[in-house]
Amino acid sequence: MGNHILKELKDGILMVKINRPEKKNALTLSMYEDLCVAFAELNKNPDIRVLVLTGVEDSYTSGNDLMDFLQNPPLGPDAPVSLFLQALLDAKKPIIMAVNGLAVGVGTTMLLHADFVYASEDALFSMPFVNLALVPEAGSSKILPDMIGHKRAAELLMLGDNFNVQKAKECGIINNYFSKNHLMEKVREVALKLAAKPPEALRITKELMKADSGSVAEALAKEGKIFNERLSSPEAVEAMTAFMERRPADFRKFK
Ligand code: COA
Repeated sequence: MGNHILKELKDGILMVKINRPEKKNALTLSMYEDLCVAFAELNKNPDIRVLVLTGVEDSYTSGNDLMDFLQNPPLGPDAPVSLFLQALLDAKKPIIMAVNGLAVGVGTTMLLHADFVYASEDALFSMPFVNLALVPEAGSSKILPDMIGHKRAAELLMLGDNFNVQKAKECGIINNYFSKNHLMEKVREVALKLAAKPPEALRITKELMKADSGSVAEALAKEGKIFNERLSSPEAVEAMTAFMERRPADFRKFK
């Protein structure tokens, strides 16, 4: 793995940093490939409970490298960017994105696939696809109108202007924002909480939330079946026994 994508596993948290500050962390083909490796590890390695993605210095990412767009345009489902977007969809464990500055293009659309997004108060977001004579990607033309309605999504996707953390929070693109100095501390708090949870219960919860469950009645039936199975799972036995024994539950042995 090149040094444009940094990875560190500690306390069950895989910290992934986009590290190309001289180009505002613009993503090249090989960086997408390295990100795919990190997401594959998330699914495969039982020691990883949660993935945190952030950028170094003043940018989260300025989006796809524009030189790559011109010289190596991504073509087809096997292009590194397509595989990265698919990896986001296929992630089975919680993903936290920590937006430490500029988030342009895919820098913003990828946030729509995270479970939690926190930003520094000076972060700026934009999806300027139309300004580059392109169209939205990462499913954003579906996810955003579903989230915030056609007219508000049109402002973001058709005008492509920068928007700030207040607007991003109001639209539900980020959970919250903090001062630059406190962002990673807050993110670590949430990541540690997630890392201590029963991992299978978390994985199934994510799967249920992301599945197209149809009607409420269908979702209710699907949950009910899994809920009943979960009651006798080793994780649930530990959770309930710990309650009875008045001690904190310990899910570290569960994978
Ligand atoms: N691809 C390739 N290089 C990029 C880049 C990108 N997406 N974004 C920034 N860079 C490079 C700049 O070309 C510049 O390189 P140089 O120093 O060799 O000239 C360097 O990063 C710093 O960028 P600069 O424009 O000087 O910084 P800034 O703070 O004034 O502006 C941005 C930052 C991100 C607002 C601006 O660079 C920009 O608009 N970038 C393009 C973003 C974009 O369109 N992304 C694709 C969306 S689909």
